[in-house]
Amino acid sequence: MCGIVGYVGSRSALDVVMAGLKRLEYRGYDSAGVAVPADGGLAAAKKAGKLLNLEKELTERPLPAGTTGIGHTRWATHGAPTDDNAHPHLDNAGRVAVVHNGIIENFAVLRAELAERGHELLSETDTEVVAHLLAEEFSVTADLAEAMRLVCRRLEGAFTLVAVHADEPGVVVGARRNSPLVVGVGEGEAFLASDVAAFIAHTRSAIELGQDQVVELRRDGVTVTGFDGSVADVRSYHVDWDAAAAEKGGHDYFMLKEIAEQPKAVADTLLGRVDASGALTLDEVRIPAAELREVDKVVIVACGTAFHAGLIAKYAVEHWARIPCEVEPASEFRYRDPILGSRSLVIAVSQSGETMDTLMALRHAREQGSKVLAICNTNGSTIPRESDAVLYTHAGPEVAVASTKAFLTQLVACYLVALYLAQVRGAKWADEIRAVVRDLARMPGEVERVLETMEPVRELARSLAGKDTVLFLGRHVGHPVALEGALKLKELAYMHAEGFAAGELKHGPIALVEEDLPVVVVVPSPRGRSVLHDKIVSNIQEIRARGARTIVIAEEGDETVAPYADHLVRVPVTPVLLQPLVATVPLQVFACELATARGNEVDQPRNLAKSVTVE
Ligand code: M6R
Repeated sequence: MCGIVGYVGSRSALDVVMAGLKRLEYRGYDSAGVAVPADGGLAAAKKAGKLLNLEKELTERPLPAGTTGIGHTRWATHGAPTDDNAHPHLDNAGRVAVVHNGIIENFAVLRAELAERGHELLSETDTEVVAHLLAEEFSVTADLAEAMRLVCRRLEGAFTLVAVHADEPGVVVGARRNSPLVVGVGEGEAFLASDVAAFIAHTRSAIELGQDQVVELRRDGVTVTGFDGSVADVRSYHVDWDAAAAEKGGHDYFMLKEIAEQPKAVADTLLGRVDASGALTLDEVRIPAAELREVDKVVIVACGTAFHAGLIAKYAVEHWARIPCEVEPASEFRYRDPILGSRSLVIAVSQSGETMDTLMALRHAREQGSKVLAICNTNGSTIPRESDAVLYTHAGPEVAVASTKAFLTQLVACYLVALYLAQVRGAKWADEIRAVVRDLARMPGEVERVLETMEPVRELARSLAGKDTVLFLGRHVGHPVALEGALKLKELAYMHAEGFAAGELKHGPIALVEEDLPVVVVVPSPRGRSVLHDKIVSNIQEIRARGARTIVIAEEGDETVAPYADHLVRVPVTPVLLQPLVATVPLQVFACELATARGNEVDQPRNLAKSVTVE
């Protein structure tokens, strides 16, 4: 949700900031803008629409050169995506410029106060008040960092703010509360960004910024303080992926690259989780085994695709560890006053580690005395930092808005946690756990095999580009897979797509079925509970009898479904609980190809952002 970059050093600030914004465009692409203190003043440019529009503007009307600068790419909250509402926002004298990610909840009150004091606000945004407040405080303190601290104490809500002032041309100041901001430290230069991707080409040395902290960047150093002015401890870390990992690697879209990377992502997430005896060793899970033995309920909170991973995890937690498990969209969780206690284990699943709904859910859980375990892909992000323990997925950077490799690795992490709970509680024998671990170790190869056979799926997707609706059905773990298939199609192809538990169809949704309606059916393994398989075969017959065009995803060797499939997609034989790892892949390819055939932007679908840092 909005990407922010700041730079101070000896290079062209505009070059660094624009390259950084390109890397962050996945966070929002409603408008973009930059500001550079130069020649005793402040130069700024901003344009509605994608970064390309700003690039064009800068070519037609270049800004003066400078070595300090800030930039912003926006996902609109307050005010439409227009030039006026684009960031940076300046004070009336044009001496201070600020960019912002998040929502300032008390902006209306502040705006009224500023208007009373004679300020003229030109946009509909909540951000603009900050530029005016900073100008007022700077006129007294002549110190941008101090002005920022004073202003932040008056703000309510969630925000990352980054500002420059014409009178302090070698300084960039940032602040954060409930919204991401990382510092990059180079030789004689420093960076600020919503995500390390923005500066990874220049430095891999990063600093985590804590809650309610202000950072002052100068060429010769970085100073971090609390909003109250106290000097803060600085925790630095090394970023363990490089710039090449964030490039498209020869693929047309990041999404295609990320789909192709899934075998490696799954393998990397499994790495180092088992000791010589075959027992699981989840070193990062710092919750003592004795406490895990006492857990009487697992609650999984997550959003979107991560929520679907949680739905699948429920089957594994209950089947392997025999602990009751609830799964809830994080955005609903705290508002229903959930029953939690010290024996509840809450698992927060998030690729970005910054999703506000999930963050708020985990805070609520901790307030109730529950332990929180994060499953996360982004090192140093807020959700793992605020959790009691974390299990990192190793998908590498996921740039496409539609989540793919992160989902598969979230599944792997969920399976590992479920098995670990079974191990510490003695719910499964050691050899049973070893058998599942061996099955998991086979999965990267099986995902690879699925990827090799995707051409017919792509062809089918292209042939359906003119359709309005696609339904997805599944049973057992196939139900969340169906939900995920529908979500992918909605967000990428902008089609009406819905996922159902196949057995629910006859309770209403079957009325949607009409001649030639494409219905994707995820068929459970016939080697699992045979009753499930038989039931779904009946479900397929029911919809076919009403004219549906059936697209059946079934395991190799399952011949009973073949007569009822208009299109048959084969996936490798896997244990029942692990089938989502292979069955989801054709649905990702299907949605990506359909979106391409409909001329949609695959990596940056309309109205969306990769990281949703507002509630
Ligand atoms: O970063 P997170 O995993 O917390 O993000 C959660 C959802 O916003 C995310 O999975 C979203 O649903 C994806 N765009 C779906 O492809």
